[in-house]
Parts: sequence; structure tokens; C-alpha cells
Amino acid sequence: MCGITAYIGPRDAYPIVINGLKRLEYRGYDSAGIMLYDGEELQLSKTKGKVADLEKITATARNKRNGKIGIGHTRWATHGVPNDVNSHPHVSNSGDLVMVHNGIIENYDTIKKELTSRGYTFKSDTDTEVLVNLIEEVKLNEGCKLGKAVQLALNSVVGAYAIAVFDRTKPNELVVARLGSPIAIGIGEDFGEFFIASDASPFVEFTKDVVYLEDEELAIIKIGREVRVRKIHDDQLVDAMIQKLQISLEEIEKGGYDHFMLKEIYEQPKAITDTFRGRLMPEDNFIKLLGIDTYGERFLNADRVIIVACGTSWHAGLVGEYLLEDMARIPVEVEYASEFRYRNPVLTKNDVVIAISQSGETADTLAAIKLAKSRGAFVYGICNVVGSSIARETHTGTYTHAGPEIGVASTKAFTTQITVLTLMALKLGREKGSISEEMFGRYLKAMDKIPQQVEKLLEINDHVKSIADVYKNATNCLYLGRGFNFPVALEGALKLKEISYIHAEGYPAAEMKHGPIALIDENMPTFVIATKHGHYEKVVSNIQEIKSRSGKIIAIVTEGDTTVKEIADHTIEIPETEEALTPLLTTIPLQLLSYHIAVMLDKNVDQPRNLAKSVTVE
Ligand code: M6R
Repeated sequence: MCGITAYIGPRDAYPIVINGLKRLEYRGYDSAGIMLYDGEELQLSKTKGKVADLEKITATARNKRNGKIGIGHTRWATHGVPNDVNSHPHVSNSGDLVMVHNGIIENYDTIKKELTSRGYTFKSDTDTEVLVNLIEEVKLNEGCKLGKAVQLALNSVVGAYAIAVFDRTKPNELVVARLGSPIAIGIGEDFGEFFIASDASPFVEFTKDVVYLEDEELAIIKIGREVRVRKIHDDQLVDAMIQKLQISLEEIEKGGYDHFMLKEIYEQPKAITDTFRGRLMPEDNFIKLLGIDTYGERFLNADRVIIVACGTSWHAGLVGEYLLEDMARIPVEVEYASEFRYRNPVLTKNDVVIAISQSGETADTLAAIKLAKSRGAFVYGICNVVGSSIARETHTGTYTHAGPEIGVASTKAFTTQITVLTLMALKLGREKGSISEEMFGRYLKAMDKIPQQVEKLLEINDHVKSIADVYKNATNCLYLGRGFNFPVALEGALKLKEISYIHAEGYPAAEMKHGPIALIDENMPTFVIATKHGHYEKVVSNIQEIKSRSGKIIAIVTEGDTTVKEIADHTIEIPETEEALTPLLTTIPLQLLSYHIAVMLDKNVDQPRNLAKSVTVE
């Protein structure tokens, strides 16, 4: 987690680095810092809090904003509490080296003891200050240049990192390196300037040419020179592939919405359409998915599919389990990546693993993929961020094409992941013959309507807001759903707790009797997904059971429903669709509800406390 950004070139570095940090704040916002070099002095400013707090302390001191070289950091604390001293950048004992770091150095304590015995002193509790001093020690001992010192030092650390290092004695270069945490290098015209960041968003308006470092790579960046990339462990020179950026400035701005989360909720009709583009062809009764077209046999011959993911992506995976089993009749298991990677799972080359991740950088999911590959399994990725680590590590896969998701609470990533899983299940079901031609055609037509139905559903925003107003002071909430909508109940509860800090639990509706019903009273609202499908009557019975214990019910029902309307305290209607597609609709009001409650409680919707968008540490 943490965001790092840097600039070297002819422009003033301050605004580039500060604006870059603002765009990377989704990665962590416990503290922020910047170092600028004006040719004479290192100007270091850092503070607990957000980039806006950093701006306040640099606003009044002109000399804190000078320089054509700058490196900045926005932190999600791992080692040491979030305070000014632990904020990055960190400076070596001599005062020459300055470094920002995203990741964790696991053996920092041993290195710190060793350096302390050699006379080094430390101001902070961070692993980063240890690493920058280790680089300094290597540089002095070996009498080598910065690049070499970074390489040698990194070969003796255990952990994960993305780092950017500046050496005051060689002020025309920056050294960056990665293992497990991303680094993008934006290249200005004729190599006249360089932009470094955890993702490409900080420099999207300056250049479209970008080099993404791979794991175990180190780059020496000098003005006027091509980027030189080497492998950290053996010094081998690597061909740095320059790619064209696909995101635009407009996509990463709020576009008139109060929050990114609201913008992203409203972007869902477009995001789902973009996920369909070139893939869903209802008029030809066809689904085109390159990954399945090429590797369909792997799925059709698989003993089972194992889905690995974290958080919201894990919830999408659960919907995927219902879809793949129902439509394609392939046995599916859904695993938390963090458990799977350490459980010594039984895996064979006949298993297919689907890894789902919005960011494509989640450390646990990445580790689960590596484990699955090492056991011979075939790994399929469903990612949003193009060129991300998970997209590169998997054998093949499908991009969701949802566009940048910046709000920490995942919204359009969830619906577009489900969209991809639905396309996969339908395509495999048809190839396997487990779904009839007639059903296949019906699903395709129903899928095609989903973006318009989401668009229409978003018109209930004011109604949802009025419900949010009634329940905003609840301290506990229950979310219930069955079948395809059980994972939606889990996702609804996650959305509420992560942005409003209200305790919420999601359950399969029928499980309520096995424990959670004990919690029901007039103070605990229950949000129930009760669309007119499958087990509707049974869910209605669950609602009655809650009502007879004075519980409050907010039900998501199918348009025109009258039964639940008579019992529930509030209802929210969704348009009619096939049962398997309902999660794409039922989740929308739950997203809006959490959003409005969080706004009403004056919480930081886009940057909830203690969280970060991209969880690149274990
Ligand atoms: O980028 P990923 O999809 O791999 O992220 C997984 C989770 O960290 C993420 O979904 C998280 O749970 C969100 N904050 C939920 O809104």
C-alpha cells in the first residue's frame, strides 16, 4: 500500500509531485511527505495526515517548494505509528540519500541491529529508514555508485518493496526498484524528463509512454538517457518495454460528483457496457471471450475451478460459484487468497484457478496465483487494471474494462467482475451443452438489457437516501440474501461497515435461525434481498420471522411485488431479469444506501479510516 511518486526534469517538481500524491492517496493516507532538491539543499517536508495537510505546511515556505527533482509519499502505516517522524521520505545518516518506500522489509530488525553496531542512528520506527541506511552503508563500503548500492542492499533484504532513491551527490538521477509492489515510469519526450509513480495516474497528462517494472527489477533513470533496467539478483540487463497508457485525465477526476464512490456507482451502466463490448453479441447469439476461446478446453476438462480473491472480489467470486455451477456444471470452490496461499492446498494440473482482483496488485491474491502455478494449475485472471501484476502473472484472462476505480469502497469493480463471470459461465455452459440453446439466447438478451436497467435503477437514489436517513444511527445491521444474492448480502454488509463504520453482518437468509435471529430487536434493521425467484416464499417467511420479533425490514424486491410490500417497513424495487443476473441489480441500492449513510454521518467516503485501495502487503 502507500503511494510513491517522483519527478526529474526541467519543470518545477513540487506541483507534479503534490498532485501525483493526491491521485495516489487511495493507496494510503496516514501521512504524507515530499523532498525537493534545488541544486543546493534538500528540502524535506512531512507530516501526519493527508496530502492537504502537507500542502498547508509547504504553502507558506517558498523554499520548501523549489526544485526540479522531487520525491513524495503518501503512507499506509505498517512499521511505526502514523506521525511526522515515521512519515516518508527518509534520509540516510550522512544526509545524502533520500528514499520513499511502499512495502515491508521483513528482516529490518536484524539489519537495524547490525547497522546500529556500526554506529548508525535512527530517528523513526520504520523499516524504510533502515533500508536507506543499509544502501548508504553498502555504497560507502563498496565505494560504488547508487544503482549498484541499491542492488546489493536489496539482495540482502527479505520482503516486498517499491522504492525510489535520490543521492544528493549524483543529483541528475533517480534509482527505482520493485519486488511485489508496483512502479510505473513515465517517459517524457526524448527522455528529457521522467515521472515515477505507484501507478500511472500521477502523470497521465504529461506522457502516455510508460515502462512498468517487473518484480526483481531495478531502473536507473537519468535525464537524456534511455531507462536502464536490470535484474536485481543477477544484474542482467532487461529490455524495458515502453507501453502506451490507456487511461485519460477525465477518467481519474470526480467529474462533478461529490465523491469518487458516487461517480463510480453512477458509472456502472457504462462500465458494464464496456465489459460487454466486443464480447456479448445477442444478435448473433454469441459470446466472444478470447481467454475462453483459446483455453476453453482447460475449463471443460478441469476437475474443478478454484476462485481466489479478497474482499469485494471474493464476493464476486462467490457469485461466480453459483453461475459456473448452475450454467456450466463445473464444480467450484471459492477461497480467500490469504488462507489458500498458506494452507498447503491440494492442487493438480487438472485444476483451473480463477484469480479476481480489481487492482491486480493484491499481495495475497498474487501469492495464491504463484502457488497455484507452481503446482501446475492453469490460472485465469479477472482484473481491472491493465498491465497489473496479476494480469501479467496469470496464464490468460479477461479485463473488466471498468475504468479506474478510485474510491476505496469497490463498486463498479464488483458488477463488472460479475459481468465477466456471467459471460464465462454462459460461454462454457453452451460449449459443454449444459445450458439449452433457448436459455442461452434468453440470457444474452437479458444481459444486453442490464446497463439500461442499472441506469433506471439509479433513479431511485432519492428514495434510497430517505431510507438511509431513517437508519443512519443504527449501530448494527443484518443483510440477508439467498442463492445468487447471498454474496450480495455479504457485499452490502461490507460496503456499510467499511465506509460508515457501522457494524454489519451478511448471512444466507435461512441461516438466520441458527444464531443471528437472537440479535433482532426494534433497533437492528435487516436488509433483505427478496426478489421474485427461486426461494422467494422462504425469504418471505424469514421476513415474517423478523417482523414478529419487532425487527425493521428494508427489502429489495422485484418491480410490482405486493407480498413483501405489505410486511416490510421499506421496499426498493429492481427491474425484472433472470434470477442469475439479479446480483447486477440488487447490489446497486445497497451501494447507494451505504454511500448516503456514510455521507450523513460525515465520514470520509472515498478514504475510510485504516483502509487503502490496493493491499500490496500481507
Ligand atoms: O484490488 P482487489 O480487488 O484485489 O482488492 C481486494 C480487496 O482489497 C477489496 O475488494 C476491498 O475489500 C475493498 N475495499 C472493498 O470495497
